[in-house]
Amino acid sequence: MPAERPGSGAGPVPRHVAIIMDGNGRWAKKRHLPRIAGHRRGVEAVRATVRAAGDLGIEALTLYAFSSENWRRPAAEVADLMGLLRRYIRDELEELAGNGVKLKIIGDISRFDDDLVTMLEQACARTSGNRQLTLAIALNYGGQDELVRAARGLALDARVGRIDPAAIDAELVEARLDTRELPPLDLLIRTSGERRLSNFLLWQAAYAELLFVDTLWPDFDQAALAAAVADFGRRDRRYGGL
Ligand code: FPP
Repeated sequence: MPAERPGSGAGPVPRHVAIIMDGNGRWAKKRHLPRIAGHRRGVEAVRATVRAAGDLGIEALTLYAFSSENWRRPAAEVADLMGLLRRYIRDELEELAGNGVKLKIIGDISRFDDDLVTMLEQACARTSGNRQLTLAIALNYGGQDELVRAARGLALDARVGRIDPAAIDAELVEARLDTRELPPLDLLIRTSGERRLSNFLLWQAAYAELLFVDTLWPDFDQAALAAAVADFGRRDRRYGGL
């Protein structure tokens, strides 16, 4: 259950917030700029949002940076996104580490360039002892793919007799998900006015509050996250009860 915000009377703070960062392309188009300009400004919004999440007392922030479907974009845009990711890790790692941020990657990065995989693994290892905020970056992530990988792992364990198929329950499935070390998802935000989950955190969204905002991702900032948290604080969560 989310923690009560101490003494503010403003309702609970979500423990785990996830964001579908949408609208970079439209932000650029409105300004007659190339799409990469929107993605660059999107990285600025990532910086601001990560800082704000720590300040607000959120325990985990999961950002959808590259979906398993994003490979369908032109090769040049995929390369631009990979370049921005490299630069973000290179430029931000020390600040993240200094601010108590633990970096995690969710998704299947085995398809990424070896040097990028090494860079991401080293960044996660470097920050693994941190406790202030877990920043999970979803890369080549798809909710269906995550569930397929979990099912495959359970099936392999069942085949060699490590688990009894009849004993498979929600807890065992969750223990196989990429998010297994994160708190339950409380709030899922999508920017840019689209109202879809787009294969993001399908299992984890079961009881999450959903918030769709019109703001384009490059315009998202500390105030936008604070407003989302305040909106969450006013929701009545019943988890199927009364
Ligand atoms: C959606 O906008 C955004 C993405 C597919 C990429 C998000 C990536 C970043 C913000 C930068 C890299 C991230 C990190 C963590 C360094 P869109 O291009 O689909 O926008 P559109 O729908 O308006 O075209």
